[in-house]
Amino acid sequence: MARSGPVITIDGPVGAGKSAVSQRVAERLGLPFVDSGLLYRAVAWLALERGVALTDPAALAALAELPRLQIVGDRVLDGDRDLTTFVHQPEINWNLSAVSSQPEVREAINRKLRQLAGGGVVMAGRDIGTVVFPDADWKFFLTASLEERVRRRAAQFQRRGEPADQASMTQEVGDRDRADSERSVAPLKPAPDAVVIDTDGVPLDEVVDQIVATVRRSSR
Ligand code: DC
Repeated sequence: MARSGPVITIDGPVGAGKSAVSQRVAERLGLPFVDSGLLYRAVAWLALERGVALTDPAALAALAELPRLQIVGDRVLDGDRDLTTFVHQPEINWNLSAVSSQPEVREAINRKLRQLAGGGVVMAGRDIGTVVFPDADWKFFLTASLEERVRRRAAQFQRRGEPADQASMTQEVGDRDRADSERSVAPLKPAPDAVVIDTDGVPLDEVVDQIVATVRRSSR
């Protein structure tokens, strides 16, 4: 599909800072930002709401295909219902790998994601540079140690006034890392042509500066 703007992909594991970094990169470059994880979260949330079995791939894919399930700006909507705040509830996190390991669900979500890139986009996720946009103009992959990523998540929860139990967070982040990296479809890994940035101990603004500088340096 012809696009009128560049596609920049920012992948990485839980808590590597993808969303915060991508949002700022998008602002600086005047592009829309799309957080692809919102669609996986929304499918898990709808499945729990409707009592759809997480072991039923066809039923999960049918949820992912619902035309009214869409990302609009930084929100995920089910028609006129805004699901964004619900989909970050902790119980959703435990159900994500059942949803994201299903190829049919991934294909339905990928179709929606590709429709959002017509004017250029900064998109964050796990497989955006490898599967969703293998032809992206720039690809980045953010990493950080498990300890640092748990620290960041705990700080994020504390800022929102939510309880943050370090031990259960370490367990959850470690489990999701394993599920994301070891699944057979679209596993979490850098694209061969991605710039890998280790963000351990690096302030967010420096990561943003590095990405923006890379894009500007090689823009025609
Ligand atoms: O980025 P996040 O933690 O909000 O993503 C939620 C889940 O969705 C994550 O555990 C893995 C899955 N996901 C995925 O498999 N592929 C993507 N491109 C984005 C998210």
